[in-house]
Amino acid sequence: MIVDYVKDERAGVGHLAVTLARSGQGRCICDVATPGTPAGPRHQTLHPGALLRDGGAARRPTGAQRGDRHRKLAFGFGSDGKPCVAGAKSTHRTDGIMRLITKSATHIPQQNGVSTRGRALPARLYREPEVVELELERIFERTWQFAAHISRLPEPGSYLTATAGRQPVLVLRDHDGQLRAFRNVCRHRGSRLLAGEGDCGKAIRCRYHGWTYRLDGELIGVPEARSIPDLDKSALGLFPARVEELAGLVFVNLDIHARPLAEQVPGLEERLAEYGVADLVPHRSLDGTQPANWKIVADNYLEGYHVPIAHPGLMRLYDYKAYTVELHDGYAWFDAPLRDKPSGNLMERAYQRLVSPMPGLPEEYTRIWRYIYIYPNTAIDLYPDQVWVWKLDSDGPKGTRDTAMLYRHPSASVRTRLAQYFNRKVNALVGEEDVDLVANVQAGLESRGWEPGPLSGREAAVGWFADKIRADLGDGAHA
Ligand code: FES
Ligand SMILES: [Fe+2]
Repeated sequence: MIVDYVKDERAGVGHLAVTLARSGQGRCICDVATPGTPAGPRHQTLHPGALLRDGGAARRPTGAQRGDRHRKLAFGFGSDGKPCVAGAKSTHRTDGIMRLITKSATHIPQQNGVSTRGRALPARLYREPEVVELELERIFERTWQFAAHISRLPEPGSYLTATAGRQPVLVLRDHDGQLRAFRNVCRHRGSRLLAGEGDCGKAIRCRYHGWTYRLDGELIGVPEARSIPDLDKSALGLFPARVEELAGLVFVNLDIHARPLAEQVPGLEERLAEYGVADLVPHRSLDGTQPANWKIVADNYLEGYHVPIAHPGLMRLYDYKAYTVELHDGYAWFDAPLRDKPSGNLMERAYQRLVSPMPGLPEEYTRIWRYIYIYPNTAIDLYPDQVWVWKLDSDGPKGTRDTAMLYRHPSASVRTRLAQYFNRKVNALVGEEDVDLVANVQAGLESRGWEPGPLSGREAAVGWFADKIRADLGDGAHA
């Protein structure tokens, strides 16, 4: 085994490149310690490319060094700590993550403390009803759940309702302008307090018996209070939840002791900010179901290994060899650079010709599609022309509820809007293809005696996700 680090002075920048050599057993092994930088018949309503992300990525050459017994597998970080992406001049800073050029099936065992050699999950975790309950309790109610775009909470008194798993949550902006979140339940007899979204004014009044709460959650009004013995209003405030905004996206967490989201996804806020996500406006929403366990849908989003076989359209668009995936503690980032060669498909070619970056987006991002997955169940599709945010929820052991919102720039040109249309058309087909794939996986996992097979290098994020699921389920993953 040979592992070495090569200083590459391309373009006057000290790029750290990692080269590996195959071991005698034909298996690549490399302990990377590099310094920082870096959706079945979906019941007819499935949307476009959404749920099924297949990455692609950096256009910069992966640098197979022909004639050299070393084969370059990964590259990507300038001495300034910034990744060298897809012919794109990145301006963000990442947190010491090594970009994997998954052209090779080689595994790199660890990046920044994140294993890239995770094992897939056993079949029982994808099909048994008791696992669903366990996941609700140990995953969905303890992790950061996407609630809404910040534009839905414009001023004091604005509120919206969301869920964390099956738990109802209320998010509002208080009179100081701060975001707050609570369990959406009255402390009296358990009525849901608010529904939908809107303006709750100066206080929240339960529609059942009129108990009233200030926007900070304190109980301030109880009709006929004297008739209630031992009433202690100070102990009957709303149950608080955590809330955070990440680049214009609002997340909630029912675990009030949870690690801050920003800590779990270091660098992500800045990267999303490049796309001006906070300033985009909602354009349309989708609410669908898929006939497969939510983790099967997630797995499918998390790898591009199936693209050459299952998505001919994407293969015409992607520079597949340059597909990359970065694994971070709390998120995975996929880059899918697009080819310059015109597609033979009319719709795809129209997109290629029309696509232009949203106002404010660097020109070099025009030819790259990006996919981000925030553990456990938020997916973000970053296109040059529009952005999708997806939330996957468990819909029983063999079903997924997926809700998505499409955002776009309010002043996008007519040309860009046309590109958006063709983008949605192209990805709608990808979505249908993916729904069929996940449905087939669900069916196959019924097979008695099946054990997970080994993962390819392109499936590093599937292993990453599986490891996190196992860690969160604890003993429940093995029972
Ligand atoms: S349930 Fe809310 S006031 Fe009675
Ligand atoms: Fe796919």
